[in-house]
Amino acid sequence: MYTVPKIADYSPETLDRAAAEAVAAFHAEQKAALEAAKNPDMGMVERGNAMRAFRDRWVARKNGVLTQINELWLKRCPGESKRNVGQKANYLRAIISAGVEDAERDANFYLLAAPDVLRKLATNDASALGAADGRLAFERLDISLPGIHRPIGVKHPVLRVMDEIVAVFKAMGYSVGEGPEVETDYYNFESLNFPPNHPARDTQDTLFIAGQESKPARDRLMLRTHTSPVQIRTMEQQPPPVRIVIPGKVHRNDPLDATHSPVFHQVEGLAVDTNITFCDLKGTLDHAMKALFGSSVKTRFYPSFFPFTEPSADMQVSCIFCGGKGCRKCKFSGWIELLGCGMVDPNVFDFVKHNGYDSSKISGFAFGMGVERITMLKYEVEEIQLFYEGDVRFLEQFA
Ligand code: DAH
Repeated sequence: MYTVPKIADYSPETLDRAAAEAVAAFHAEQKAALEAAKNPDMGMVERGNAMRAFRDRWVARKNGVLTQINELWLKRCPGESKRNVGQKANYLRAIISAGVEDAERDANFYLLAAPDVLRKLATNDASALGAADGRLAFERLDISLPGIHRPIGVKHPVLRVMDEIVAVFKAMGYSVGEGPEVETDYYNFESLNFPPNHPARDTQDTLFIAGQESKPARDRLMLRTHTSPVQIRTMEQQPPPVRIVIPGKVHRNDPLDATHSPVFHQVEGLAVDTNITFCDLKGTLDHAMKALFGSSVKTRFYPSFFPFTEPSADMQVSCIFCGGKGCRKCKFSGWIELLGCGMVDPNVFDFVKHNGYDSSKISGFAFGMGVERITMLKYEVEEIQLFYEGDVRFLEQFA
C-alpha cells in the first residue's frame, strides 16, 4: 500500500515524479475499493466498510494521505519551494477528493444490490439479467433497511393564530369569508369612504399593478392594503343580517423592520343587523380577547378614526405581560393596542343600499386585526421576519 514518501530535494522533476506516484497509487486503490463494493462474495456491511476505509485513507483530516502530504511535503520544504509544493499539493487535493466522490457515487449504485444481481453483473451477462429485469433488481426495495424519517411538520404559527381567531368568532355564530388579494380601487378605497386624495391611495403606501393608467380610477388594480374590501363584497352578495370574519393576506409598501412586513395577515369582522350598537361591538371583542389571551385580560376602547366607521375606536388590551402594572413591553402604560374597530359608516352602507342596507333601518360594527402582531404578543416573538424565513429552528418551537 502506498505511503507518502519524504522528499529529499524539491526540484520540479522530483515533485512531478512524487505527485505522479501518488496519483497512480490513488487510482489503483480507487479501483480496488470499487471492486470491493461490487463483490458478490462480501456482505453489504463489509462492502460499505471497504468504501469508507478508502475515503478515510485518502481524505480523512486526521492522517489521511492528503494530510500527510501537507505535513511531509509542504510544511517541511524550504521557503523558496513553498509555492511549487503548494501548487502540487492543491492539484493532488483536487484530483483525489473528486476521485473519492466519483467512486462513492459509483459504489452507491452497487452497495444495496443483492448478491445474485452483483454476480450477474460481474459475469457481464447482460442477457441473463435482461435490461428491464436488471433495472427492477436494482430498484427492488429492501424492507429490512431502516426507513427514512420524514417529519410531517406543523401549522405555521401565523396560520395557527389566524385559525384560532376565526374559531373564536365561529363559536359566536360568525361565518367565514374570503376575497381577492388583487383588488380594485373601488373596493379597497372608494366604497370604504376614503376621500379621493387620502394618503393611503398614494404609491408611497400602496402597491399598484403597473399599466393601469388608461382605466378609470376606480377600476385600477392594486394589492389590497387591508381585508376591509371584503366587507363590501360580502354585503353585495348577501342582504342583512351579516356576521362574518374574513382572514387573509394584505400588502403595503412598507419597508421591512422588526414589526413591519410588506406582506402580512389580517382578520376582518363585520356584523350587520337591526339594532346593532356599540355595546354589541364592545361585548363581542371583549369576549374574543378573553378567549384568545385568557379570561383575566381587560379591554378598553380609545377614540380613533377610520373613513369607513363612525365612531371609530382603537381597542386596547391590558398588558398580557405585566397584567396592567406597566412594563417595558407596554411602554409602562399597562395597555397594548391591538385592533381597529367602529360602527359601520352610513356612507359605506349607501354603496350597497340596493341590497337591503338602508342605514335608517340597520346598523353594524366592524373590526380588523393584524395576525402577526397578535402572534408576536402571544408567543413573545420579537422579530416579524422570523415568520417568513422558514428557519426550522424557529418553526419547530411551535410543534
Ligand atoms: N382596515 C383597517 C387597517 O387595516 C383596520 C380596521 C379598522 C378594520 C376599523 C375595520 C375597522 O373593519 O372597523 O388598518
